[in-house]
Amino acid sequence: MLWILRFSGVFSAAMMMVVLSPSFQSFPPAEAILSAQDYGPDPLRGGELFPRSSLSFRRAPEFTNADECGTLGRTRPGVCNPGLVHVAITLDVEYLRGSIAAVHSVLQHSRCPGNVFFHFLILDTGLESLVASTFPNINFKVYHFDADLVKDLISTSVRQALEQPLNYARNYLADLLEPCIGRVIYLDSDLVVVDDISKLWETDLGTRTIGAPEYCHANFTKYFTDSFWSKKRLSATFTGRQPCYFNTGVMVIDLVKWRGVGYTKRIESWMEIQKRERIYELGSLPPFLLVFGGQVAQIEHRWNQHGLGGDNVRGSCRDLHPGPVSLLHWSGSGKPWIRLDSKRPCPLDTLWAPYDLYNHAHQ
Ligand SMILES: *[C@@H]1O[C@H](CO)[C@@H](O)[C@H](O)[C@H]1NC(C)=O
Repeated sequence: MLWILRFSGVFSAAMMMVVLSPSFQSFPPAEAILSAQDYGPDPLRGGELFPRSSLSFRRAPEFTNADECGTLGRTRPGVCNPGLVHVAITLDVEYLRGSIAAVHSVLQHSRCPGNVFFHFLILDTGLESLVASTFPNINFKVYHFDADLVKDLISTSVRQALEQPLNYARNYLADLLEPCIGRVIYLDSDLVVVDDISKLWETDLGTRTIGAPEYCHANFTKYFTDSFWSKKRLSATFTGRQPCYFNTGVMVIDLVKWRGVGYTKRIESWMEIQKRERIYELGSLPPFLLVFGGQVAQIEHRWNQHGLGGDNVRGSCRDLHPGPVSLLHWSGSGKPWIRLDSKRPCPLDTLWAPYDLYNHAHQ
């Protein structure tokens, strides 16, 4: 474990535990708790209530295709156009600032931004116009995720943020996206891409359904309860596999294979078991480990330099894993926008800041 700890507070054994334990869960974006006075009517939508903090983003520059990108970027391509790079990301009022920065980063580092098509998963209406006004020439479609789909499947988790219905939208991409879409990159909202996403898009998944960087040095046992490991009928699911931890915040998904096998149902059945038997403590991640662990196409670690959220409460900051970086991911409980606003950023938070389009002056 080569985490380097930067001390912003008093050293303690507890901090060391946090830093050394390989808890790279896909902690979805964080802790922006908004109070009632943070909400106001959205002028773009007339009447519906949205957090004031989400209202104002600066307009991103227009990103245009390089010459070698072909003709796709010159017109608005239809969603089924075979030349597109499909990216799915959730948009909700709490993590909107993170999602907007993520989209901005993808566009900025793409040679062919006009060939990227964004699929935004949302619970509430209203964010559509905000996206369109922030990114003048982006290709996108908005999908309403029905929280009722997972309402009865979500069990309590160690962190409340992990129980948000939208967190589970990634389970349903194969059903939500048009049947003509055969592959998608799923991205969490607390990350920035600092390389051309088309390189990730071209990943060879071989016979696998999903691709993600795997972390085989992490102790896999601890992602499930003793009760799970003690029940042979459950833990036998891993027989013949050598599962490793992977983070579900960055995945390349073959939707054709997913639909063919019906992986959504498999994930749901593990969530049903969890409701009855408590087989894990985290949110949307463990069902993915159960279904895909040991059968994940390996993607270079540079595509998910995760854990940068560290632990907000203890004020710990994390450093990058050794090696190259194509994507920075603030998984963990701290989020860069919250730390930057509080004037207590971690050193790497300054790498997120250039993608932030939030308009402070508007408040
Ligand atoms: C992995 O974690 C489990 C449960 O916490 C523990 O019993 C086991 O000794 C650990 N294994 C290693 C190799 O550290």
